[in-house]
Amino acid sequence: MKVKLADKRGFCFGVEDAIEIAEKAVEERGAGNVVSLGPVIHNKSVVEHLERKGLNQSDDLETIPETSSVLIRSHGATPEVLERARERNLHIVDATCVLVKRAQDVVRDLHQEGYHVVMIGDRDHPEVRGVIGYAPNVVVIDRKEEIAKALPHKERLGIVVQTTHSPEHMAEIVAEIVRRPFKEIRIHNTLCLEVTQRQQAAVALCDEVDVIFVLGGLHSANTQELARLCRAKDTRTYHLEKWEDFDPFMVEGVRVAGVTAGASTPEWTIQEFVRELETL
Ligand code: F3S
Repeated sequence: MKVKLADKRGFCFGVEDAIEIAEKAVEERGAGNVVSLGPVIHNKSVVEHLERKGLNQSDDLETIPETSSVLIRSHGATPEVLERARERNLHIVDATCVLVKRAQDVVRDLHQEGYHVVMIGDRDHPEVRGVIGYAPNVVVIDRKEEIAKALPHKERLGIVVQTTHSPEHMAEIVAEIVRRPFKEIRIHNTLCLEVTQRQQAAVALCDEVDVIFVLGGLHSANTQELARLCRAKDTRTYHLEKWEDFDPFMVEGVRVAGVTAGASTPEWTIQEFVRELETL
């Protein structure tokens, strides 16, 4: 089978940095002495790879032993979590992506300048949960239908967006907000260009293939968004984690298959998938 790869795919610099910081911390502090607060990234094989090197994981800060280091993953954490880690005398290893950190700073600054902050994003996503901790009463919306009910009747709105959303998604919500009588709306583009480039490459690839495979963790927001955009192009789309999830029915009648991958998918997963697909 002919297989075409998206020009931009896989690891972003934020994920590469987070893995490097985690590996370095384990090297310096010793295997078993560094605990990641939640999975470092949304990719099982990478998390397992780091576990084998000696990185532990916990979802609860209170269970991390006092002699350990706590690793803050690329999604970041709220100021309260960081404060609590300090109170517990845990050594903090901060792997928050610089772009997430920027969104956190923007939220804090907007609040200090008197704007009511609105974040466009998924309220259950760890990045969003962390970013909204930098100002009180941040309103989180992710669908046009939520706007009427959720938006505050304030005169000055400050808007930020989850880094992994698409420009189209952001524009759709912003267009709906500006229809309302807010005197001032300040919009900060906190989208991640790495994600946008992967989205553009995936959408372009859809025009050249009969089916597209989007590789990445099933909980990875940017991978989900890639799959959503490919489906919106009416391209047969499968979101899989790895080759083991493949089923031959997925390529029935297919001459050319496309492969792309989210920002937390390692190149080894992509290459294995392409190799196997090419043999069909
Ligand atoms: Fe950062 Fe963008 Fe990657 S926000 S973690 S560089 S997807």
